[in-house]
Amino acid sequence: MAFPAQFEGFSVTSHETAEMAEMTEMAASFERFARLECEELPLYRRLTLGAAEDPEMLKLLAIAPRGQRRPNLILAAVHYLLLDGADDPLADWYPTVNRGAPQPTVDPYPEFRRFVFEHLEELAPMLASRSTQTNEVNRSCLWFAAWRAAATDVADMPLALVEVGASAGLNLLADRYRYDFGDRIERGDRSSEVRLTCELRGRVPPLDAPLPRIVARHGIDLDPIDVRDPDALRWLRACVWPEQPDRHARLDAAAKTAASDPPSVIRGDAVDEVADVIEAFPLDAHVVVMNSWTLTYLERSRREAFVAALDLIGATRTLTWVSAEHPGCLAVFRDPKPTLEPASRTLVGMVRWRDGARMVDNAATVHPHLRWMEWRRSSNC
Ligand SMILES: C[S@@+](CC[C@H](N)C(=O)[O-])C[C@H]1O[C@@H](n2cnc3c(N)ncnc32)[C@H](O)[C@@H]1O
Repeated sequence: MAFPAQFEGFSVTSHETAEMAEMTEMAASFERFARLECEELPLYRRLTLGAAEDPEMLKLLAIAPRGQRRPNLILAAVHYLLLDGADDPLADWYPTVNRGAPQPTVDPYPEFRRFVFEHLEELAPMLASRSTQTNEVNRSCLWFAAWRAAATDVADMPLALVEVGASAGLNLLADRYRYDFGDRIERGDRSSEVRLTCELRGRVPPLDAPLPRIVARHGIDLDPIDVRDPDALRWLRACVWPEQPDRHARLDAAAKTAASDPPSVIRGDAVDEVADVIEAFPLDAHVVVMNSWTLTYLERSRREAFVAALDLIGATRTLTWVSAEHPGCLAVFRDPKPTLEPASRTLVGMVRWRDGARMVDNAATVHPHLRWMEWRRSSNC
């Protein structure tokens, strides 16, 4: 196997081949992150390109559980320490913590690297135990449309919502926010301090269809975030990229809204808990299961087990599942543009179970943070 030049001369121990293959994949994931996510993020672009060529930095990520060995985790852990008040020149680079110092113009990577290795004692336990928990509130633009789309053929049934991988549950409150879909019509709760925007492409989703009454809503998460806990909220903020003030503003406003009446998020595994949560819902309710950027963290066999659990529930209840994950995450949905780079878009699939029959739809393609939404289904279904 050929390894990239940056690994030449790097000392490895016994499981050399597997370890090097994993480091090669990790280097590629940092390089991909820089290329696909950081077009408008000069700091994170430089940091991830630097890390991609730094075997010792990549090796550090091996402390994290397998599914979490991603650029976001180390970036969030460093950001967390800075948000927590770490007094360090690295802070000057981060718009979220820069206290008025001029933005440095030299390469930030050496400073980042020094910070990481000086703070290993604090960082290592975080890498081992934390996970990427970004609760992207703008994804509520999808739920605003999808809840209505899910209900079009069963509009007389009340809704019972369950979100797996809900993080702080901020997207369970999608009916409490204000929306701008670029068509000059303000939708949602016009008094809300949480203002969300999304450009519509493709067909128009059923944005003006009535939303049935919501009679229950619960989240499930391996590690629920309580927005009233300052430390937990700091981790949530750390997961949001520091060069995106609009995302920070949305998160802060949504956390403030949620703090007075937080959504219920149950601690547990999506696959193990989903049936029990649904069993407690009123029998006359239409159950809507939702997930965004969650099932990607599950092993493939667990994703299949999740679908099987929904099939069992759908055999006896009116159920709709709306899934927003990267293309290729779930075999049940077809990627309409398989030649495009998968990381730049999220595939939205919808499965309905009605009287025991199952119907699968590729409902939409969306930007990972819902900057845009390309709806595929016609607006009356
Ligand atoms: C990237 S975050 C996305 C959060 C939220 N869905 C959103 O779109 O804003 C993924 C969330 O899934 C949770 N998670 C990962 N694996 C899980 C599992 N097996 N069961 C339940 N939650 C899980 C994580 O704890 C994390 O909060």
